[in-house]
Amino acid sequence: MEKHYAVIGDPIQHSLSPDMHNAGYQALGVDAFYQRFQVKADRLGEAVQGLHALGFSGWNVTLPHKEAILALLDTLTPQAERAGAVNTVKIHEGQMIGHNTDGDGFVRSVQEELNGFQGKKAVLLGAGGAGKGIALALAEQGMKLHILNRTPEKANELARIIQREGGMATAGEFAPGDWLKDVDLLVQTTSIGLHKEPFPFSLEGISKQALVVDIIFNPMETLFLIEAKQLGCRTQNGLRMLLYQGALAWEFWFGGQAPIEEMRQALKHGLAERV
Ligand SMILES: NC(=O)c1ccc[n+]([C@@H]2O[C@H](COP(=O)([O-])OP(=O)(O)OC[C@H]3O[C@@H](n4cnc5c(N)ncnc54)[C@H](OP(=O)(O)O)[C@@H]3O)[C@@H](O)[C@H]2O)c1
Repeated sequence: MEKHYAVIGDPIQHSLSPDMHNAGYQALGVDAFYQRFQVKADRLGEAVQGLHALGFSGWNVTLPHKEAILALLDTLTPQAERAGAVNTVKIHEGQMIGHNTDGDGFVRSVQEELNGFQGKKAVLLGAGGAGKGIALALAEQGMKLHILNRTPEKANELARIIQREGGMATAGEFAPGDWLKDVDLLVQTTSIGLHKEPFPFSLEGISKQALVVDIIFNPMETLFLIEAKQLGCRTQNGLRMLLYQGALAWEFWFGGQAPIEEMRQALKHGLAERV
């Protein structure tokens, strides 16, 4: 019998998740169909009950519901519990299980380029929902984190959480500094650049060894990434993170390995159509 999956959020019309997952089902001959649904913040409870009642086998969750959905689910995986956010739900024996693949998806997306995490230095710009998941996952890999956020209290709090769990993290001012000289991985997790606006400060003086990632993928190259490239750094946009968080959601739902190449191609085509 055909299984049903979905992504819920608001806005949702530009989501590439249906392209990626349906291409995966087709590649492996999985009898399933993935849709996108716009769900307003004040209708989340009804939407979750509706998906459950309609027999959906699982769904992804995006803005603005990643935190609000926690209270509506039966159990959480350790990843969801730690991140305080859910991006994937699976129905298992009638129970709604909340999971989070954003942080581990990011880790997988940089694994090859970074060539090892242990003891390397990561600087994180932003401490919002995505930043938090990424920071926790990188700390778990043994990276030394330095977190910068416009609202400093949020960076301090995130650094404290990581320290409490035995990880290495400090917080600093949302500004250029000595950190530029020896950073191995710089991750831009704020929403600056979504509307092609310039980043508020320059990366002048950054180590040419650094891998610079902007988790935004539309536009494909933010002004932040363009500057990093001009300064001689390797760069990566957010499409690989989207791909690997999707692949991990797939693996959570079906077990086995997701068809990465087909999903990557579908994302590329989907994005080209929308840009
Ligand atoms: N590639 C992927 O798979 C993926 C997955 C998730 C998210 N994303 C992208 O990640 C970005 C952030 O998403 P989110 O869910 O983390 O959002 P969020 O929870 O709302 O956090 C937004 C972050 O951006 C900062 N920020 C916003 N405007 C700023 C400005 N003008 N100056 C300085 N800092 C600013 C906020 O700082 P304050 O704390 O000071 O407000 C906060 O750190 C979005 O662009 C989203 O599209 C990509």
